[in-house]
Amino acid sequence: MAAEVPEPRVEFPLQGGYHNPTLRAWHATSAQLAKEHLMYPVFVSDHENSDHVEAIGSLPEQNRYGYNAVVKALEPLVQKGLASVLLFGVVDRKDVRGATADDSDNPVVKVLPLLKAAFPQLTVACDVCLCPYTDHGHCGIFMDTQPENESQQRFDPVASAKRIAEIAVAYAEAGCDIVAPSDMMDGRIQAIDAGLKAKGLRNRVAIMSYSAKFCSCFYGPFRSRKHSRAWSTHETYSDAAKSAPKTAPADQAEPATKVARRLVTPKGRHNYQLPPGSSGLAARANEISVREGADMLMVKPGIAYLDVLRDTKRLHPYHPLAVYQVSGEYAMLWHGAAQGAVDLREGVLESMTAFRRAGADIIITYYAPRLLQWLDE
Ligand code: PBG
Ligand code: ZN
Repeated sequence: MAAEVPEPRVEFPLQGGYHNPTLRAWHATSAQLAKEHLMYPVFVSDHENSDHVEAIGSLPEQNRYGYNAVVKALEPLVQKGLASVLLFGVVDRKDVRGATADDSDNPVVKVLPLLKAAFPQLTVACDVCLCPYTDHGHCGIFMDTQPENESQQRFDPVASAKRIAEIAVAYAEAGCDIVAPSDMMDGRIQAIDAGLKAKGLRNRVAIMSYSAKFCSCFYGPFRSRKHSRAWSTHETYSDAAKSAPKTAPADQAEPATKVARRLVTPKGRHNYQLPPGSSGLAARANEISVREGADMLMVKPGIAYLDVLRDTKRLHPYHPLAVYQVSGEYAMLWHGAAQGAVDLREGVLESMTAFRRAGADIIITYYAPRLLQWLDE
C-alpha cells in the first residue's frame, strides 16, 4: 500500500518554459545565428473572406492574412525551417474593454487550431494586448470610461491585469505554445501565470514577457500613419495592426516645461511603456517579470537598445532573451536599401549578428522569410 503523503503543492515553476524542442533550443548558449532563433510576426485579420491577403503599406512585403490564408502563406516558410511565429490579431470591431480580443470570432482564436493541425512542429506565440481591440487604442482598461474630458482618464491596474490575463488564457486554451503580453501594465505577468495555473495550462504554455519595452517612435509603421509629415512622399501609408492610441490619459497631460514638452508626444503610451533614456527602469521591469513568473524576457526595439539587451542577458543569464526588431527598424532598413544606402542582405545580417552578440536567444523580425533563404545560401 502506498504511503500517505500530503497533497503536493506544485507551483509549475519551470517546465512551461521548455516544453517543446524550439523552446529548449533557446536555452542553448552560442553566438551563431540559426533558423530556430527566428520568430516571425504574422498579422491575422478578421476580413470576411478568410482567404483574403492584403499588403501592409507601411511594411513593404508584409501582409495581413485572413485566417485561412495564414496557413497557405506559412507553408513554404515552415518547409524552409521556420520554427516560431508571433500572431497579431487585426479587427475592425472595437470597444472600451476590447471584447473582440478573445471572443470566438477573434482571428487569432480561429487560426490557432488550424496552425496547430497544419504545422504540429511550429511554435506559436500570441501577442496579448488590448490596443488592437479597444476603441481608445490603449493597452489597458480605464477607470472611468466616460470622463468629462480625456485628460481625466486613468488606468485601472487591477481591471487591466485581469482583462489581459483573460485574453492570454483564451489563446492558451485555443492551443498556442507561448503567450506574449505586450501591454506593459503592472501585474500582468502574475495575473497571466495565475490564470494559466487555474486552468491547468501552465506546464504547456510559456509566458514571454515584453518585459523591457520602450516607448518608441520605431513602432510607427505598426500602429498608424500619424508619423507622415509634409516632407514624406508616402501619403498612402497604412498601419499594420490598426492600434494607434486615440486619447491622452491624465498622466500624459501637457508637460510644464519646454524641455519636457519636447520629450513627450501627446496620445502616446508614455505612462506604461518605458522612457528611452532609462536603463534602470528596464532592469527593474525585467526583474519584476522574472519575479512574477515569466519564462522568457524581451527587449524592444532592437538596434537602439543593444546596451539594454546586453544588461538584461547579464542580469538574467538563465532566461531565454528575445529582441524585437520592430516595424520601424524593418522599414528603415528596407527603404534605406531600396535607395541604395545599404545592402539589404548585409545590413539585415549585421543587425542579426549584433543581436546575437549582445545576448539575444530569440530574434523577432519581419525579415524572417528572407533570413531563412539567406541562411540556406
Ligand atoms: C501592441 C504592440 C506594439 C508592437 C507589438 N505589440 C505596438 C505598440 O506597443 O505601440 C510593436 C511592433 C512593431 O512595431 O513592429 N502593444
Ligand atoms: Zn498594446
